[in-house]
Amino acid sequence: MNSNFSFKAVIFDMDGVITKTALTHAAAWKKMFDEYLLKREKEHGEPFAEFTHAADYLPYVDGKPRYKGVQSFLDSRAIQIPFGDPSDSPGTETVCGLGNQKNIAFNEVLENEGVEVYPSTIALINELKKAGIKLGVASSSKNCKPVLERVDLLHIFDARVDGVVSAELDLHGKPEPDIFTTACDIFGVKYAQAIVVEDAVSGVQAGKKGKFGLTIGIARENNRIELEENGADLVVEDLEEIGGIKGLNDLFLKFNQETTGNKII
Ligand code: BG6
Ligand code: MG
Repeated sequence: MNSNFSFKAVIFDMDGVITKTALTHAAAWKKMFDEYLLKREKEHGEPFAEFTHAADYLPYVDGKPRYKGVQSFLDSRAIQIPFGDPSDSPGTETVCGLGNQKNIAFNEVLENEGVEVYPSTIALINELKKAGIKLGVASSSKNCKPVLERVDLLHIFDARVDGVVSAELDLHGKPEPDIFTTACDIFGVKYAQAIVVEDAVSGVQAGKKGKFGLTIGIARENNRIELEENGADLVVEDLEEIGGIKGLNDLFLKFNQETTGNKII
C-alpha cells in the first residue's frame, strides 16, 4: 500500500494547520487577558499593557495546552496567582479559571462563525489517506474533536491525541513531544519515519525534541524565522508549496540524506 513512500505516518497539528481556528483562539485569549489585565490595573494599580499577538500570543500561548498557555503568559509578566483546578468556574482568579473563561469566548466565536479549513491541507490529507499512510492529529486543544466534527474530518484520522486525551493519559503538552510520539506509538511507526506538520513555535520545538523524520513549519503569521530557529526542518507558508505526496516524499528523503547521510527505509 504505502511501500512507494519512505515515510509511514504524517501527524498534523489542527489549529492553523487543518482548520483556520488559530486566529479564533488568539482573539479569545486577547479578550480574556485584556479584561484580566484591566482588572489588575483597577485593583492593584498595575499599568495596563495589552496582550499582543506578536509579543505575547505567539511566543507564550500558541500551540500549548490551555493552562500551560495561561501560566506561561502570566510568568512572562511576573504575575503570580494560584493554579486552581480545572473545575474552577470561568473567571475565577486562578490559572484554570482564566483558561476556562477564555474557553467561553472561544466557543462563542465558534458558534457564531463556524469553522473553515485550509483546502491545500485537506487535499494533501486525502492523497495520503488514499496511499495508505497513517494519519494523526496531535492538538493541544480540548476542542479538537468538536472542531473536526464540524467540518466532518474526524473519521479521516487513524489517531487523535488532543487536549482531552492528553489529560486522560497525563501527557506533557507541547513543547514536549509526547502527543506526537503517542500517535506514532499507536501506529507502531518509528519516530524517524513520521512527519510532523505544525504552525506554532511550541509545536516545532516538540517536533525537534521528538527527533521525527521531518518537521514542517507553516508560517501563517509571517514567522518563518521563529519556526526555523525553533526546530522546523523546513518552513512553507502553505502546504500547497509541498507538491503533494510525491513532493513530500522527495523532501523527506532529501532532508534525511542531507542531515544523516542515511537512507530511511
Ligand atoms: C492550541 C492552540 O491548538 O490549543 C492554542 O494553538 C490553544 O491557541 C490551545 O490555546 C488550547 O486549546 P483549548 O481549546 O483546549 O483551550
Ligand atoms: Mg497550531
